[in-house]
Amino acid sequence: MNFKELPAHGRRLVVGGSVLALTLTTAGAAVGAAPASNEAALVPVRVAADATIEQRVDALLRQMTVDEKLQQVTLLPDYLVTDDDARKGIGSVLSVTDPVRINRLQHLAVEQSRLHIPILFAFDTIHGFRTIFPIPLGAAGSFDPAVAQADAAFGARESAAVGLKQTYAPMVDVSHEPRWGRIAEAAGEDPYLNSVFAAARVRGTQGSDYSAPDKVVASPKHFVAYGQPEGGRDYNTTDMSEQRLRNFYLPPFKAAIDAGADTVMCSFNAINGVPGCANAYTETDILKTEWGFDGFIESDWTAVAELRACPPKNPDAGECGHGVAADGPDAAAKALMAGTDSEMTSTFLRDFGKQLLADGRITMARLDDAVRRILRVKFRAGLFENPYADPAQAQSKQMLPDAVAAARTAAGRSMVLLKNQGNVLPLDPARSTVVIGPLGDDQHDMLGPWWGAGRDQDAVTVFAGLKAQNPATTFVPACTIVHADPPDNTPDDVCGSDAGFAEAVAAAQSADQIVLALGESREQSGEAASRVDIGLPGKQQQLIDAIKATGKPFVVVLFNGRPLTLGPVDASSPAILEAWFPGVQAGNAVADVLFGKVNPGGKLPVSFPQAVGQIPIYYNHEPAGRPCNVASKWNSRYRDLPTCAPLYPFGYGLSYSTFTLSNLRLNTAAMSPKGKITVSVDVTNTSGPKGDEVVQLYLHDPVASISQPVRRLRGFQRVTLDPGAKTRVTFTLDASDVGFYDNRGQFLVEPGRIDVYASTSSVGGLTASFTVN
Ligand code: BGC
Repeated sequence: MNFKELPAHGRRLVVGGSVLALTLTTAGAAVGAAPASNEAALVPVRVAADATIEQRVDALLRQMTVDEKLQQVTLLPDYLVTDDDARKGIGSVLSVTDPVRINRLQHLAVEQSRLHIPILFAFDTIHGFRTIFPIPLGAAGSFDPAVAQADAAFGARESAAVGLKQTYAPMVDVSHEPRWGRIAEAAGEDPYLNSVFAAARVRGTQGSDYSAPDKVVASPKHFVAYGQPEGGRDYNTTDMSEQRLRNFYLPPFKAAIDAGADTVMCSFNAINGVPGCANAYTETDILKTEWGFDGFIESDWTAVAELRACPPKNPDAGECGHGVAADGPDAAAKALMAGTDSEMTSTFLRDFGKQLLADGRITMARLDDAVRRILRVKFRAGLFENPYADPAQAQSKQMLPDAVAAARTAAGRSMVLLKNQGNVLPLDPARSTVVIGPLGDDQHDMLGPWWGAGRDQDAVTVFAGLKAQNPATTFVPACTIVHADPPDNTPDDVCGSDAGFAEAVAAAQSADQIVLALGESREQSGEAASRVDIGLPGKQQQLIDAIKATGKPFVVVLFNGRPLTLGPVDASSPAILEAWFPGVQAGNAVADVLFGKVNPGGKLPVSFPQAVGQIPIYYNHEPAGRPCNVASKWNSRYRDLPTCAPLYPFGYGLSYSTFTLSNLRLNTAAMSPKGKITVSVDVTNTSGPKGDEVVQLYLHDPVASISQPVRRLRGFQRVTLDPGAKTRVTFTLDASDVGFYDNRGQFLVEPGRIDVYASTSSVGGLTASFTVN
């Protein structure tokens, strides 16, 4: 397909039909790093359908029998798909990653099916295929969309090499739910940050033309509001207002579609009682009609079957639960007519479609529309011209040095320095170092949830990474991790015993400096991995306390897929580095940061609560009639917590340098709803060494027809500055930034004052204001 090439430093962002732009200029003696502009990632590149492709789609559709159409809307996983399915013209297959098997099935489809339609092969390349990058939540901590774009681009290259042509990514679910394990998979709590990262990932995945041999079609998911399950329990129901849906949860999907994403996955959860894959309002009214999306929607795994009430009927087995469909045929009809085009894993459309057509419960027009959308994507993907991968070449495209180097850079840029009391960090690579902790020489967990085709043996452990830069490094595990899933898991799976603590303490006593590698197992985050207690699991806090008692300098390096409640860790540790699950280059990237080769510059993409009881806690909350005031009884507060703040706020992160913002300026005091305003601010590296700061721009509308969040991120820029250097960062705002959706789904730009904050986290900073009139 012919997506327009994106200019290298595109500057226009369209949200709700208007524009936000950002530029970076330099001032003073030193020059800041080239801008990895966040808004460049948001430049819309979607173009109108190609007439030649439309003609080919129509010509093919005219030849198709009903059976062939019903095959085309079927999507089966590796363990269900058969050669016979391929010969009958099945539409798509997921999770086959062996290029030989992919090719064999493709040859059957192309050579032996009546109409020779190729299969679309799909996989969850979420943060890398073989070269595993940091989990997406971590990557968002980089506040650098280039990190996400590189991850997606290398993932696409490695995926395409084995014959895959679709990835079920990016996951763009905004979430205020750290109990929910899948918060690991997207960019955290903010709609703007998620939008920037969604678009960057789509660009990396698809490029300007996903028929290219190293590109695949992206599938943003899970449409929509899957990130807000009640109680934080995966798959649970979601209930939200229209304005919430449109201001928080839809924007990243819109950004992904504007970036050209041509497939979308509908979600498991019900929104206001209507499951995502039977939701005509979100699928057809918003995605297809309002946004003009002409690609296709696949269901999530068995999400069509799950529409049924339990116990399941016709067939009397399989998934069930939502209770919006009586039986299999009813589920198929509801999903298709709501807008779902492709059914994953269950086969109700294929099995009951003919009868449903005969009964008038589905229409031929709608079935044709679904098939047309799937064929359109296959033509755009170039599958009819190039259906086969080259299995002989597939291996040679995996884990290439450029991908591995990018994974190391990405991991380093993603890490967030949470505490560095007394400048414990950086450590001295010439002094003896001991790595202690269950994650200290661990390969398996470094890959995090959704390790794609990654292999544990590819991962560099913390111990190996530090030893490579400091040969006088030793390792003592202190305790271990059991990698079990329910129902076999226990609370003692991670560091359940202190039997090894004495040995660890002895090692600490004889070393100059200590690295504690702690956190979650990778099984504790990701899909179906919700937790009610999000503290450091097992006896790891006791291990910290035992090491602290030695009086030796130590740093806690955390590996986890969600915000944790780190109060005790913060109280007991002089230095804390949030490393997330960093991917294959984990140990090297940790060593780069700990030894000061890389000056940490990441920021939290999500609030870290003090206590689970504060959840949901997010910086962009509405103010409330009795805003938090812990000095008063009759205000919004907790009786058993002396603050309403999180432990670490959104946007927070330290560096080995300190930075100062100054000179906040607006180019005008008033902006018309059709106009623009530029906001600029100086940032100076006031204490060296060379390092990165993320300048963040937030807005607040103090008087509006709907109570507005206390702050909303509307721009950010990560800059690199030499010691003493200063640069000026400029953001351009317009109606899309000051407006908001109301509860009727209308985008409103209201007159009045807008407060501006330029800051280095979601708290504090410089302020100014302007008027919209
Ligand atoms: C997940 C999706 C994933 C699909 C296919 C589901 O369980 O929710 O995110 O794409 O499986 O693997």
